[in-house]
Amino acid sequence: MTLSDTIPSLPTMQVVATTDGMRRLRSQAEGSVGLVPTMGYLHEGHLSLVRRARAENDIVVVSIFVNPTQFGPGEDFKTYPRDPQRDLAFLQQENADIVFMPSAVEMYPEGFDTHVEVGTVTDVLEGVHRPGHFRGVTTVVLKLFNAVQPHRAYFGQKDAQQLVVIRKMVRDLNLNVEIVRCPIVRETGGLAMSSRNVHLSPDERRAALILFRALSLSERVWRNGERDASKLRDRLQTLIAREPLAKTDYVSVANPETLQELETMEGPTLVSLAVRIGDTRLIDNVVVGEQRPSPVAETEVAAN
Ligand code: PAJ
Repeated sequence: MTLSDTIPSLPTMQVVATTDGMRRLRSQAEGSVGLVPTMGYLHEGHLSLVRRARAENDIVVVSIFVNPTQFGPGEDFKTYPRDPQRDLAFLQQENADIVFMPSAVEMYPEGFDTHVEVGTVTDVLEGVHRPGHFRGVTTVVLKLFNAVQPHRAYFGQKDAQQLVVIRKMVRDLNLNVEIVRCPIVRETGGLAMSSRNVHLSPDERRAALILFRALSLSERVWRNGERDASKLRDRLQTLIAREPLAKTDYVSVANPETLQELETMEGPTLVSLAVRIGDTRLIDNVVVGEQRPSPVAETEVAAN
Protein backbone atom coordinates (compact mmCIF):
# COMPACT_ATOMS: atom_id res chain seq x y z
CA MET A 1 0.00 0.00 0.00
CA THR A 2 1.31 3.46 -0.84
CA LEU A 3 0.29 6.29 1.40
CA SER A 4 -0.42 9.50 -0.41
CA ASP A 5 0.79 12.65 1.29
CA THR A 6 -1.36 14.85 -0.91
CA ILE A 7 -4.68 14.11 0.81
CA PRO A 8 -7.31 15.68 0.56
CA SER A 9 -6.83 15.87 -3.22
CA LEU A 10 -5.78 12.25 -3.62
CA PRO A 11 -4.34 11.65 -7.07
CA THR A 12 -5.78 8.16 -7.28
CA MET A 13 -8.22 6.10 -5.35
CA GLN A 14 -6.62 4.17 -2.50
CA VAL A 15 -7.76 0.63 -1.80
CA VAL A 16 -7.08 -0.62 1.68
CA ALA A 17 -7.80 -4.02 3.25
CA THR A 18 -6.89 -3.59 6.92
CA THR A 19 -8.23 -1.47 9.76
CA ASP A 20 -4.68 -0.30 10.55
CA GLY A 21 -4.18 0.78 6.94
CA MET A 22 -7.55 2.54 6.96
CA ARG A 23 -6.57 4.35 10.17
CA ARG A 24 -3.26 5.50 8.66
CA LEU A 25 -5.05 6.99 5.65
CA ARG A 26 -7.65 8.55 7.93
CA SER A 27 -5.01 10.24 10.04
CA GLN A 28 -3.74 12.07 6.93
CA ALA A 29 -7.19 13.18 5.77
CA GLU A 30 -7.99 16.84 6.11
CA GLY A 31 -11.53 18.22 6.09
CA SER A 32 -14.78 16.34 6.32
CA VAL A 33 -15.01 12.60 5.76
CA GLY A 34 -18.11 10.88 4.37
CA LEU A 35 -18.53 7.08 4.59
CA VAL A 36 -20.74 4.93 2.37
CA PRO A 37 -20.97 1.39 3.81
CA THR A 38 -21.89 -1.28 1.22
CA MET A 39 -21.72 -4.99 0.57
CA GLY A 40 -20.58 -4.37 -3.01
CA TYR A 41 -21.98 -5.46 -6.37
CA LEU A 42 -22.65 -1.78 -6.75
CA HIS A 43 -25.59 -0.34 -8.67
CA GLU A 44 -27.09 3.11 -9.19
CA GLY A 45 -28.67 2.99 -5.71
CA HIS A 46 -25.24 2.66 -4.07
CA LEU A 47 -23.71 5.18 -6.47
CA SER A 48 -26.36 7.77 -5.57
CA LEU A 49 -25.07 7.55 -1.99
CA VAL A 50 -21.47 7.93 -3.19
CA ARG A 51 -22.42 11.00 -5.27
CA ARG A 52 -24.18 12.58 -2.32
CA ALA A 53 -21.15 11.90 -0.11
CA ARG A 54 -18.87 13.32 -2.83
CA ALA A 55 -20.92 16.53 -2.96
CA GLU A 56 -20.94 17.01 0.81
CA ASN A 57 -17.44 15.97 1.95
CA ASP A 58 -13.74 16.55 1.27
CA ILE A 59 -12.91 12.86 1.52
CA VAL A 60 -15.19 10.00 0.44
CA VAL A 61 -14.64 6.53 1.85
CA VAL A 62 -16.65 3.58 0.52
CA SER A 63 -16.53 0.25 2.31
CA ILE A 64 -17.18 -3.02 0.54
CA PHE A 65 -17.67 -5.99 2.83
CA VAL A 66 -20.17 -8.82 2.50
CA ASN A 67 -20.77 -9.12 6.21
CA PRO A 68 -21.26 -12.79 7.17
CA THR A 69 -22.77 -12.02 10.60
CA GLN A 70 -25.86 -10.33 9.16
CA PHE A 71 -26.86 -13.44 7.14
CA GLY A 72 -28.82 -16.21 8.85
CA PRO A 73 -27.90 -19.92 8.46
CA GLY A 74 -30.38 -20.54 5.60
CA GLU A 75 -29.71 -17.22 3.87
CA ASP A 76 -27.80 -16.24 0.74
CA PHE A 77 -24.32 -15.35 2.10
CA LYS A 78 -22.60 -17.84 -0.24
CA THR A 79 -24.54 -16.79 -3.34
CA TYR A 80 -24.58 -13.05 -2.58
CA PRO A 81 -23.28 -11.46 -5.83
CA ARG A 82 -19.68 -10.21 -5.77
CA ASP A 83 -17.57 -8.40 -8.37
CA PRO A 84 -14.84 -6.33 -6.68
CA GLN A 85 -13.07 -5.31 -9.91
CA ARG A 86 -16.25 -3.90 -11.40
CA ASP A 87 -17.05 -2.14 -8.10
CA LEU A 88 -13.61 -0.49 -8.03
CA ALA A 89 -14.04 0.72 -11.63
CA PHE A 90 -17.38 2.32 -10.70
CA LEU A 91 -15.92 3.96 -7.62
CA GLN A 92 -12.97 5.33 -9.56
CA GLN A 93 -15.46 6.95 -11.96
CA GLU A 94 -17.28 8.50 -9.01
CA ASN A 95 -14.01 9.93 -7.64
CA ALA A 96 -14.13 8.05 -4.36
CA ASP A 97 -10.92 8.66 -2.40
CA ILE A 98 -10.60 5.50 -0.33
CA VAL A 99 -12.14 2.05 -0.68
CA PHE A 100 -12.01 -0.04 2.49
CA MET A 101 -12.30 -3.72 1.55
CA PRO A 102 -11.50 -5.84 4.58
CA SER A 103 -11.56 -9.64 4.60
CA ALA A 104 -13.81 -11.62 6.97
CA VAL A 105 -10.83 -12.56 9.20
CA GLU A 106 -9.75 -8.94 9.36
CA MET A 107 -13.19 -7.94 10.67
CA TYR A 108 -13.84 -11.07 12.73
CA PRO A 109 -10.52 -12.56 13.84
CA GLU A 110 -10.45 -15.81 15.78
CA GLY A 111 -12.09 -15.30 19.16
CA PHE A 112 -14.19 -12.27 18.15
CA ASP A 113 -16.99 -12.16 20.70
CA THR A 114 -18.50 -8.67 21.15
CA HIS A 115 -21.75 -7.52 19.56
CA VAL A 116 -23.92 -4.45 19.41
CA GLU A 117 -27.60 -5.08 19.97
CA VAL A 118 -30.22 -2.35 19.51
CA GLY A 119 -33.57 -2.93 21.30
CA THR A 120 -37.24 -2.98 20.26
CA VAL A 121 -36.89 -1.45 16.78
CA THR A 122 -35.03 -4.63 15.80
CA ASP A 123 -37.81 -6.93 17.07
CA VAL A 124 -40.26 -6.20 14.23
CA LEU A 125 -40.36 -6.51 10.40
CA GLU A 126 -36.97 -7.78 9.15
CA GLY A 127 -36.06 -8.67 12.74
CA VAL A 128 -38.90 -11.23 12.88
CA HIS A 129 -37.96 -12.88 9.60
CA ARG A 130 -34.18 -12.57 9.95
CA PRO A 131 -33.26 -13.22 13.60
CA GLY A 132 -29.78 -11.88 14.42
CA HIS A 133 -29.64 -9.82 11.21
CA PHE A 134 -29.55 -6.40 12.86
CA ARG A 135 -27.06 -7.51 15.49
CA GLY A 136 -24.74 -8.31 12.58
CA VAL A 137 -25.49 -4.99 10.88
CA THR A 138 -24.97 -2.78 13.95
CA THR A 139 -21.82 -4.64 14.99
CA VAL A 140 -20.19 -4.24 11.58
CA VAL A 141 -21.36 -0.65 11.12
CA LEU A 142 -19.90 0.36 14.49
CA LYS A 143 -16.62 -1.33 13.53
CA LEU A 144 -16.65 0.56 10.21
CA PHE A 145 -17.37 3.84 12.02
CA ASN A 146 -14.44 3.16 14.35
CA ALA A 147 -12.06 2.34 11.52
CA VAL A 148 -13.08 5.28 9.32
CA GLN A 149 -14.20 7.87 11.90
CA PRO A 150 -16.47 9.64 9.42
CA HIS A 151 -18.23 12.95 10.03
CA ARG A 152 -21.18 11.69 7.98
CA ALA A 153 -22.39 8.25 6.93
CA TYR A 154 -24.81 7.65 4.07
CA PHE A 155 -27.61 5.07 4.13
CA GLY A 156 -30.46 4.35 1.71
CA GLN A 157 -34.16 4.58 2.56
CA LYS A 158 -34.39 1.28 0.62
CA ASP A 159 -33.52 -0.38 3.96
CA ALA A 160 -35.86 1.78 6.03
CA GLN A 161 -35.61 -0.29 9.20
CA GLN A 162 -31.79 -0.42 8.95
CA LEU A 163 -31.77 3.40 8.95
CA VAL A 164 -33.99 3.55 12.05
CA VAL A 165 -31.77 0.97 13.81
CA ILE A 166 -28.50 2.76 12.92
CA ARG A 167 -29.91 6.12 14.04
CA LYS A 168 -30.94 4.57 17.34
CA MET A 169 -27.47 3.07 17.85
CA VAL A 170 -25.87 6.45 17.09
CA ARG A 171 -28.13 8.23 19.59
CA ASP A 172 -27.92 5.63 22.33
CA LEU A 173 -24.13 5.19 22.13
CA ASN A 174 -23.39 8.93 21.58
CA LEU A 175 -21.55 8.26 18.33
CA ASN A 176 -20.22 11.39 16.73
CA VAL A 177 -21.48 10.80 13.20
CA GLU A 178 -24.29 12.36 11.19
CA ILE A 179 -26.51 9.79 9.52
CA VAL A 180 -27.70 10.95 6.09
CA ARG A 181 -30.82 9.33 4.62
CA CYS A 182 -30.83 8.98 0.82
CA PRO A 183 -33.92 8.28 -1.34
CA ILE A 184 -34.63 4.95 -3.03
CA VAL A 185 -33.33 4.66 -6.60
CA ARG A 186 -35.60 2.67 -8.91
CA GLU A 187 -35.36 1.12 -12.35
CA THR A 188 -37.74 2.38 -15.05
CA GLY A 189 -40.96 0.62 -14.15
CA GLY A 190 -40.37 1.07 -10.46
CA LEU A 191 -38.39 -1.95 -9.26
CA ALA A 192 -36.10 -0.74 -6.45
CA MET A 193 -32.47 -1.33 -7.38
CA SER A 194 -30.89 -4.15 -5.39
CA SER A 195 -27.80 -6.30 -5.76
CA ARG A 196 -30.13 -9.31 -5.42
CA ASN A 197 -32.13 -8.33 -8.56
CA VAL A 198 -29.42 -10.10 -10.59
CA HIS A 199 -30.91 -13.42 -9.41
CA LEU A 200 -34.31 -12.68 -11.01
CA SER A 201 -35.24 -14.45 -14.26
CA PRO A 202 -37.08 -12.31 -16.87
CA ASP A 203 -40.44 -13.68 -15.62
CA GLU A 204 -39.52 -13.02 -12.02
CA ARG A 205 -38.40 -9.51 -12.88
CA ARG A 206 -41.86 -8.83 -14.31
CA ALA A 207 -43.47 -10.39 -11.23
CA ALA A 208 -41.26 -8.27 -8.96
CA LEU A 209 -43.03 -5.14 -10.20
CA ILE A 210 -45.86 -6.15 -7.86
CA LEU A 211 -43.95 -4.48 -5.00
CA PHE A 212 -43.96 -1.12 -6.74
CA ARG A 213 -47.59 -1.56 -7.72
CA ALA A 214 -48.46 -2.19 -4.09
CA LEU A 215 -46.57 0.92 -2.97
CA SER A 216 -48.28 3.00 -5.67
CA LEU A 217 -51.63 1.64 -4.48
CA SER A 218 -50.72 2.75 -0.95
CA GLU A 219 -50.16 6.28 -2.25
CA ARG A 220 -53.54 6.31 -3.99
CA VAL A 221 -55.35 4.87 -0.99
CA TRP A 222 -53.80 7.57 1.24
CA ARG A 223 -54.65 10.33 -1.26
CA ASN A 224 -58.26 9.10 -1.41
CA GLY A 225 -58.50 9.70 2.32
CA GLU A 226 -58.42 6.14 3.68
CA ARG A 227 -56.85 6.16 7.17
CA ASP A 228 -57.70 2.66 8.39
CA ALA A 229 -54.36 0.82 8.39
CA SER A 230 -55.84 -2.69 8.40
CA LYS A 231 -57.91 -1.88 5.29
CA LEU A 232 -54.72 -0.80 3.53
CA ARG A 233 -52.88 -3.95 4.68
CA ASP A 234 -55.75 -6.11 3.34
CA ARG A 235 -55.75 -4.39 -0.04
CA LEU A 236 -51.99 -4.82 -0.37
CA GLN A 237 -52.09 -8.50 0.68
CA THR A 238 -54.87 -9.14 -1.86
CA LEU A 239 -53.01 -7.37 -4.64
CA ILE A 240 -49.75 -9.24 -4.02
CA ALA A 241 -51.58 -12.59 -3.68
CA ARG A 242 -52.82 -12.16 -7.27
CA GLU A 243 -49.23 -12.43 -8.53
CA PRO A 244 -48.55 -16.19 -8.82
CA LEU A 245 -44.75 -15.91 -8.44
CA ALA A 246 -44.95 -13.74 -5.30
CA LYS A 247 -45.13 -14.91 -1.68
CA THR A 248 -45.57 -12.26 1.00
CA ASP A 249 -43.32 -12.33 4.10
CA TYR A 250 -44.97 -9.22 5.53
CA VAL A 251 -47.01 -6.15 4.68
CA SER A 252 -46.52 -3.47 7.30
CA VAL A 253 -48.23 -0.13 7.89
CA ALA A 254 -46.26 1.43 10.72
CA ASN A 255 -45.01 4.54 12.45
CA PRO A 256 -41.80 5.47 10.55
CA GLU A 257 -39.85 6.16 13.75
CA THR A 258 -41.01 3.51 16.22
CA LEU A 259 -41.89 0.94 13.51
CA GLN A 260 -44.95 -0.06 15.56
CA GLU A 261 -47.95 -1.19 13.51
CA LEU A 262 -50.73 1.41 13.28
CA GLU A 263 -54.49 1.13 13.56
CA THR A 264 -55.06 4.60 12.16
CA MET A 265 -52.73 6.44 9.79
CA GLU A 266 -52.59 9.94 11.21
CA GLY A 267 -49.27 11.42 10.08
CA PRO A 268 -46.43 10.13 7.90
CA THR A 269 -46.75 6.35 7.64
CA LEU A 270 -44.16 3.78 6.57
CA VAL A 271 -45.63 1.15 4.27
CA SER A 272 -43.08 -1.62 3.90
CA LEU A 273 -43.09 -4.97 2.16
CA ALA A 274 -40.99 -8.10 2.08
CA VAL A 275 -41.93 -10.42 -0.76
CA ARG A 276 -40.30 -13.57 -2.09
CA ILE A 277 -40.18 -13.83 -5.86
CA GLY A 278 -39.03 -17.41 -6.48
CA ASP A 279 -35.90 -17.80 -4.34
CA THR A 280 -35.20 -14.07 -4.15
CA ARG A 281 -36.40 -12.06 -1.18
CA LEU A 282 -37.11 -8.41 -2.02
CA ILE A 283 -37.92 -5.51 0.31
CA ASP A 284 -39.30 -2.09 -0.57
CA ASN A 285 -41.16 0.74 1.11
CA VAL A 286 -42.74 4.16 0.81
CA VAL A 287 -43.57 6.82 3.38
CA VAL A 288 -47.08 8.13 2.66
CA GLY A 289 -48.45 11.31 4.16
CA GLU A 290 -45.20 13.26 4.08
CA GLN A 291 -45.34 16.96 3.20
CA ARG A 292 -43.00 16.71 0.22
CA PRO A 293 -44.06 14.81 -2.92
CA SER A 294 -43.47 11.08 -2.49
CA PRO A 295 -40.63 9.47 -4.48
CA VAL A 296 -43.02 6.69 -5.54
CA ALA A 297 -45.45 9.24 -6.99
CA GLU A 298 -42.54 10.88 -8.84
CA THR A 299 -41.32 7.57 -10.29
CA GLU A 300 -44.88 6.77 -11.30
CA VAL A 301 -44.96 9.95 -13.36
CA ALA A 302 -41.48 9.35 -14.83
CA ALA A 303 -42.41 5.79 -15.86
CA ASN A 304 -45.60 6.85 -17.66
P1 PAJ B 1 -26.06 -2.98 0.81
O1 PAJ B 1 -27.28 -3.82 0.66
O2 PAJ B 1 -24.93 -3.19 -0.14
O3 PAJ B 1 -26.51 -1.47 0.74
C1 PAJ B 1 -25.59 -0.44 0.98
C2 PAJ B 1 -26.37 0.86 1.10
O4 PAJ B 1 -26.98 1.15 -0.17
C3 PAJ B 1 -27.50 0.79 2.14
O5 PAJ B 1 -27.53 1.99 2.88
C4 PAJ B 1 -28.73 0.62 1.27
O6 PAJ B 1 -29.93 1.11 1.87
C5 PAJ B 1 -28.35 1.44 0.05
N1 PAJ B 1 -29.15 1.05 -1.11
C6 PAJ B 1 -29.31 -0.20 -1.63
N2 PAJ B 1 -30.17 -0.17 -2.67
C7 PAJ B 1 -30.57 1.12 -2.81
C8 PAJ B 1 -31.48 1.79 -3.69
N3 PAJ B 1 -32.14 1.15 -4.65
N4 PAJ B 1 -31.64 3.13 -3.53
C9 PAJ B 1 -30.99 3.80 -2.55
N5 PAJ B 1 -30.13 3.21 -1.69
C10 PAJ B 1 -29.92 1.90 -1.81
O7 PAJ B 1 -27.17 -2.31 3.51
C11 PAJ B 1 -26.13 -2.95 3.46
O8 PAJ B 1 -25.44 -3.17 2.29
C12 PAJ B 1 -25.46 -3.54 4.70
O9 PAJ B 1 -26.45 -3.89 5.62
C13 PAJ B 1 -24.43 -2.59 5.35
C14 PAJ B 1 -25.07 -1.30 5.85
C15 PAJ B 1 -23.29 -2.27 4.37
C16 PAJ B 1 -23.80 -3.31 6.58
O10 PAJ B 1 -23.21 -4.51 6.21
